[in-house]
Amino acid sequence: MRKPLVAGNWKMHGSRQQLDSLLGGLIDGLSDNATAEVLVCPAFVYLHEASARLGDSAIELGAQNVCAQAGEGAFTGEISAAMLADIKCRYVIVGHSERRAIYAESDEQVAKKFVAAQAAGLIPVLCVGETLDERESGATEAVVARQLDAVLDEAGVAAFSQSVLAYEPVWAIGTGKTASPDQAQQVHGFIRSKIAEKDVKIAGLLRILYGGSVKPGNAAEIFAMADVDGGLIGGASLKVDDFLAIVRAAG
Ligand code: PGA
Repeated sequence: MRKPLVAGNWKMHGSRQQLDSLLGGLIDGLSDNATAEVLVCPAFVYLHEASARLGDSAIELGAQNVCAQAGEGAFTGEISAAMLADIKCRYVIVGHSERRAIYAESDEQVAKKFVAAQAAGLIPVLCVGETLDERESGATEAVVARQLDAVLDEAGVAAFSQSVLAYEPVWAIGTGKTASPDQAQQVHGFIRSKIAEKDVKIAGLLRILYGGSVKPGNAAEIFAMADVDGGLIGGASLKVDDFLAIVRAAG
């Protein structure tokens, strides 16, 4: 019922040459019809070239961030959702923990980005997750609920039917530590139940990805959990063979 989605978040990595070889490897490697939907999110400057390189392949294109302002205007250095749609992006990551922590994006700004993305026809991939301190103090669900509520308040639950969620415990991102399958399932189940309080049908269809040190060796056991519908993959998405193995684990 929920088609798995495996998304590669390339972060601030790559070059034109690497883009060409990564996408070439994925296009070749996915010709055997993996059942999961596959998404790649290169840095802004490579999106246009990626869009052309992907052509009519089934691999989808997404951005890693977007301006919270709708329309156009005097926002030097920003990239609008309409611009991303113009170059055939279909998805955009909003609220990644690196944006929240390093660039001080608030829950409210993330919610505005979610709305701006949808207004331009993009599908936001909304990231939520707790830090290690928050987990150790027992605040995981409160933090995730607060991050979700900001978007629910701004966008309304109906908007979640055109979105993807990603649970990314901050302590697992790029650290080599993953949540155990049970830890992931617990938070994914909590997220789905929070949405179900507002709309059971939307909650049932919502894809919730897990992110944080997913590798070929641990992907299958995490993806096997009932409320895990794929992954948001950082480091391992930069290696064709690893990413392909993770896609196969999801499909
Ligand atoms: P990681 O990154 O797979 O390298 O931990 C995940 C992410 O930040 O989306």
